[in-house]
Amino acid sequence: MIGIIGGSGLYNIDGINIIEEVEVSTPFGKPSDNYIVAEYSGKTVVFLPRHGRGHKFPPHMINFRANIWGFRKLGINKVISISAVGGINKDLKPGDFVISDNFVDFTKSRVQTFYEGIHSKTADTQFKDEVEEYLNGKRVVHIDITEPFCPVVRYTLIKACKENSSSFVDRGVYVATEGPRLESASEIRIFSNLGFDVVGMTLVPEVVLARELRMHFGSISIVTNLAAGISESRLTSDEVVQMMHIKNEEIKQVILKALEKLPEKFSCQCEEVLKGAAI
Ligand code: HPA
Repeated sequence: MIGIIGGSGLYNIDGINIIEEVEVSTPFGKPSDNYIVAEYSGKTVVFLPRHGRGHKFPPHMINFRANIWGFRKLGINKVISISAVGGINKDLKPGDFVISDNFVDFTKSRVQTFYEGIHSKTADTQFKDEVEEYLNGKRVVHIDITEPFCPVVRYTLIKACKENSSSFVDRGVYVATEGPRLESASEIRIFSNLGFDVVGMTLVPEVVLARELRMHFGSISIVTNLAAGISESRLTSDEVVQMMHIKNEEIKQVILKALEKLPEKFSCQCEEVLKGAAI
């Protein structure tokens, strides 16, 4: 099963056959919204709008743990995450898609782990896997995140962008900021000097938490604006939502193509990440 997380301005995906809407409870609290279970290309797809329908949660108040755990409860181990970003790399222009291959974390106040040692919650799933062994055993876990994104999901997204003739780049460093404010021009200048390509507020801790549950996680970002100080005008949420609106149909086409192309068997190491990771 495949999970899709929609970002700003993307609260549903039409074109897939919706089967049902399910409310999921988790030991980590409430997810952002109900999950929409659908079918496409013979595959079960589950959609969740990260900010909730109607954009109820700002980035720093999203319950990322509940969102990702909810996917686990529904049996999902592959996730495509869609997000709006500001473009830092001078070669990027609004409307471009970016399939990031790494991230840098500048968030400040987010819980980034399920595994809290003695304070860990007890799992409400019964898959009898390492996740439950570590959580219920109240272990401390340090996952490797050298390569944060699943290479199979990434290549699938790249193939989908190519086939769709979308304007995209096949790698990039995503810098995650705390928000909800946008960045200062000096922050973006520093990020640019450090070689970061795009800036957004949600990929961390989403990718980290998905990896902690051994999921295959890939991200597609849409450059909605040039970042602060690169853009010549004041940044607004209006332009972010407008660009997401303009690109809505194209995003949907890319996602549907990616769903068609996702292989059944994955040749990557994502599912091995918990081996030897607990103390
Ligand atoms: N900064 C941070 N997050 C964003 C931006 C930005 O410029 N655009 C869309 N999400």
